[in-house]
Amino acid sequence: MNDVLPEEIGRWQRVEHVYARTLSLNGFREVRTPYVEPTALFVRAIGETTDVVEKEMYSFDHHDDALTLRPEGTAGAARAYIEHGVQAREPVTRWWYAGPMFRAERPQRGRYRQFHQLGAEVFGDGGPGCDAEMIDMLVSLLVELRVPDVEVFLNSLGGPGTRALHREALVSYLTPRAASLSPYSQLRLQTNPLRILDSKDPRDQEVVLGAPSIHDFLDAGDREHFARLREYLDALHTPYTVDARLVRGLDYYTRTLFEIKGAHDKLGAGSTLVGGGRYDSMVAGLGGPDVPAIGFAAGLERLLIASEITAPSKGIDALVAPIGLAAVGSGLELARDLRRGGIRCEVDTRGSSLKGQLRRANALGARIVLILGESELADGVVQVKDLEAHLQERMARGEAVRVVLDRLVAASRSVDSRMPT
Ligand code: HAM
Repeated sequence: MNDVLPEEIGRWQRVEHVYARTLSLNGFREVRTPYVEPTALFVRAIGETTDVVEKEMYSFDHHDDALTLRPEGTAGAARAYIEHGVQAREPVTRWWYAGPMFRAERPQRGRYRQFHQLGAEVFGDGGPGCDAEMIDMLVSLLVELRVPDVEVFLNSLGGPGTRALHREALVSYLTPRAASLSPYSQLRLQTNPLRILDSKDPRDQEVVLGAPSIHDFLDAGDREHFARLREYLDALHTPYTVDARLVRGLDYYTRTLFEIKGAHDKLGAGSTLVGGGRYDSMVAGLGGPDVPAIGFAAGLERLLIASEITAPSKGIDALVAPIGLAAVGSGLELARDLRRGGIRCEVDTRGSSLKGQLRRANALGARIVLILGESELADGVVQVKDLEAHLQERMARGEAVRVVLDRLVAASRSVDSRMPT
């Protein structure tokens, strides 16, 4: 779990801002659900034999309630969608969210125990056009965030019937070969054989090379959905790679499944930026209406590692510098006037020397210093010092706000004119 210090927060806010803007342009509205939900919700939605539920949840009992810090956002969003009867009000619901998630994983670069996801869910649209639009939106988002080498990996898992047939064939194939599997996958063979396809252990990887592919079991509806999705992505010129072995760590997926990677040099090939897919059976499975759904989540920390965007570190515009404690009261008043004029400023209320205050102004990135010494106080004036233009003017205090604003506006114009277009 990490602290995010003010030096770093600018990049976080920029990514969050670009995300919120992109999702709003695509008709999504923000939803905020609790960080804590009943443990049973995650067990039912994510699946009892997944790594997340078996090993990674922060669960605790409080009086008679078994509760869990949310390990992901989809289950909570689906619960809220059902609980508030949203389906009765709108046929298609597009929600986005951003916030912390909690998984007790082994920490490493890009993998934390409290991490942040930028996610979204669409309820009520079961068609492949919705899938294509979401994937295309994500690629545009990553490009806007200046993530290099963006790559989309796509698979179809089919519906629950398809999954059951594939599972049976997979178990028949793996059982006689069980002795060659890693000990962990031997256990998985009983509980969640699909996950063996995803194992990073070389012993497992060799065995699964000849395993039956889910694509041989897709029914006509699944095939049509996948073909149309690919058609739409082709029409959008959004490149993707079909990976028939792509499975994900959560059990709720049906049909479309996707992962997006990027910036391999910084994150390594195994580190996924965005994961998502359809979960057409979850809402009904949780006791809600029979509504199809699709969604995704991006790891914010991983996006920040992968992205080349920068954010200027924001300081203040002006420092009010009372020389001596007698000037502090007038300094506070002047600072309040400046802030009312929209100028970011601080007052040095410690009665420091002028030299000390100029040093502080530099450290804070303030362009203007407003000096209130003994004689300024007596005459009702202030010295306005522009540290970049190397100018100093004495003026009536009532004029200071306008002059400082003019100086800042002129400075930002001259910066703008130097920016490449
Ligand atoms: P997920 O693949 O478990 O999917 O997580 C999505 C993304 O969250 C990952 O690709 C990764 O970037 C980030 N992430 C996951 N665990 C960690 C961690 N321990 N540290 C840092 N980042 C992490 C879901 O959570 C699904 N709810 C996505 C979804 C929404 N599917 C449908 N709707």
